[in-house]
Amino acid sequence: MAEMMKKLAGKFLVIDGPDGAGKTTQINLLINHLAAGGLEVCKVRDPGGTAIGDKIRQILLDRQHEEMSVRCELMLYMASRAQLAHQVIRPALAAGRCVVGDRYISSTVAYQGAGGMDGREIQEAGRIAVGDTLPDLTVILNLPAETGLGRLKGAPDRMEAKAMEFHRRVRELFLQQAAQAPDRFAVVDAAGSVEEVQQRILAAIAKWIG
Ligand code: TMP
Repeated sequence: MAEMMKKLAGKFLVIDGPDGAGKTTQINLLINHLAAGGLEVCKVRDPGGTAIGDKIRQILLDRQHEEMSVRCELMLYMASRAQLAHQVIRPALAAGRCVVGDRYISSTVAYQGAGGMDGREIQEAGRIAVGDTLPDLTVILNLPAETGLGRLKGAPDRMEAKAMEFHRRVRELFLQQAAQAPDRFAVVDAAGSVEEVQQRILAAIAKWIG
C-alpha cells in the first residue's frame, strides 16, 4: 500500500461515468483512502472547481437555457476546464499532489459526442483548453442509463433532463473511449454496494499502477 501511495504522488486520476453512477460518493471514499495512506490529495470538480468555472457551470446546467447549442456547450465545458487546469490541476501536480478529478475531457467526448459532435473535434478543443494536462488514468463507472437516472434525487439539471436514448449513447461513448485506450482507462462495474464498488476502484488503480 505504501508503495502504491508513493507511485500516485504527482498523478492525475479522473473518475467519470454516466449520471447517477455514484461518482461523488466513490470519489469522497477514494480521497479518504488515499489521504489515510499519507498521500497529499487535491480534489477537483469539472465543470467548476474555480470561481470562474462555478459560474460557467451554472450557465451550463440552467434548465432555462434550452436553446444552448452543442458547440456552445463544448466551448463552455472546455473554458471551465481550461481555468481548472491552469489554476488548480497544474500547480497541484507540480507540487507532487495526487489530483482526483470528478469528470474531465472523457465526459465531453461522451456527452457532447452523444449530442452530435465529432470525437476528433472534441479532442482538438481539449488540447487547446488544457494542453498536455491530461489524466494518467480515467476510471469509468459503468452502469445502465436507466439505473443511473433512476438513482438521481431532486429536479434533473439541463443535461440530466435529456432523453433516455441520449444517456444510453453517453454510456456507449464512455465504454468506447476505454476500449480504445486500455492503458489510460479502466472500467469498473458500478452496480452493487458502495463498498463493493470502492473495492473495485481501488483494485483497478492498483492494477494500473502495477
Ligand atoms: P456532474 O453530474 O458531474 O455534476 O456534471 C454535470 C453535468 O454536465 C452532467 O450531466 C454531465 C454533464 N457534462 C457534459 O455534458 N460535458 C462535460 O464535459 C462534463 C464535464 C459534464
